[in-house]
Amino acid sequence: MDSSSLTLTRPDDWHLHLRDDAALQHTVPNAARQFGRGIVMPNLATPVATTAQALSYRERILAQRPAQSSWQPLMTLYLTDNTSAAELKTAKDSGLIHGIKYYPAGATTNSDAGVTKLEGVYHLLEQLQSLGLPLLVHGEVTDSDVDIFDREAVFIDRHLAPLARTFPELAVVMEHITTREGADFVRESPAHIAATITPQHLLYNRNHLLVGGIRPHLYCLPILKRDIHQQALLQVATSGNPSFFLGTDSAPHPRTSKESACGCAGCYSHHAAMELYAEAFEREGALDKLEGFASHHGADFYGLPYNDSTITLVRESWQAPHSIAFGDTELSPLAAGDTLQWKMLEGQSLETP
Ligand code: NCD
Ligand code: ZN
Repeated sequence: MDSSSLTLTRPDDWHLHLRDDAALQHTVPNAARQFGRGIVMPNLATPVATTAQALSYRERILAQRPAQSSWQPLMTLYLTDNTSAAELKTAKDSGLIHGIKYYPAGATTNSDAGVTKLEGVYHLLEQLQSLGLPLLVHGEVTDSDVDIFDREAVFIDRHLAPLARTFPELAVVMEHITTREGADFVRESPAHIAATITPQHLLYNRNHLLVGGIRPHLYCLPILKRDIHQQALLQVATSGNPSFFLGTDSAPHPRTSKESACGCAGCYSHHAAMELYAEAFEREGALDKLEGFASHHGADFYGLPYNDSTITLVRESWQAPHSIAFGDTELSPLAAGDTLQWKMLEGQSLETP
């Protein structure tokens, strides 16, 4: 491989947050800059819980897509205690809904309408299994007596393992895994159980978040774990195993909401997503595995064709921006101000305030 440039099938982002309204003028072009498609999370202030809501959200998103871009938003629905089996059928029949998102109520940003008890919606999972529609899981328990660093591992034991036994053909994506337990569970499961991995969980661990002062821009959920978990994620991401693929979880929040006495959870990475993944893969000596992870495995899992264009990353030192425009405000992106070693060629330039 030429060590100064890297050309890949255009990648896809299998987990991202675009928000709504004024935010879309920035989040949509930024998503379309590097990726061919994106699985759009439904956790708006009013959850995207019906096909009708998802289709109108899709129109608002497409209205902000740059003229020359063919980037596609792949929509999802937010599962609630009140979702009906008929709604899931409508979603499947639309051909535009690619997954159903399970948030445990209260687990993360805009999850209050989430499911109160996973076992209470087993009839809906039965329906998803028969429709062949993937369940996208935020895999953390919310019990107040479970330590925040243990919430993913406990979720796997108490809920995910039983679910996988009860629904042996249900396609499941464990979104943004953060632990060795998550990596092991997916590695030992059949091919219809997969996981996405974010750039922050490959590049950082909880020391980066907490040593020498609290860094609110590294606070996301599930929270960064200790080093051994980071190493386990790097190992599976760079292993070539098709059950692991790219999902940035790029989740914009205004700077003021994060630099606060109660800072909210979410890291924004669409200013440099592929550059950040390239950095992590290069450290592992595994740049040759980046294309599978970023451009092939997710499409195979979702039964979609590969993108027919490419992107090129070149080895070039540059400084990630300190600030990115976001609606009528601005935000501090992941690795703000840091020097990165790879840069996408001919990217449409980012709007900074
Ligand atoms: C996400 C957000 O801000 O919407 N936040 C996060 O910390 N990852 C929600 C989510 O994916 O959990
Ligand atoms: Zn997310």
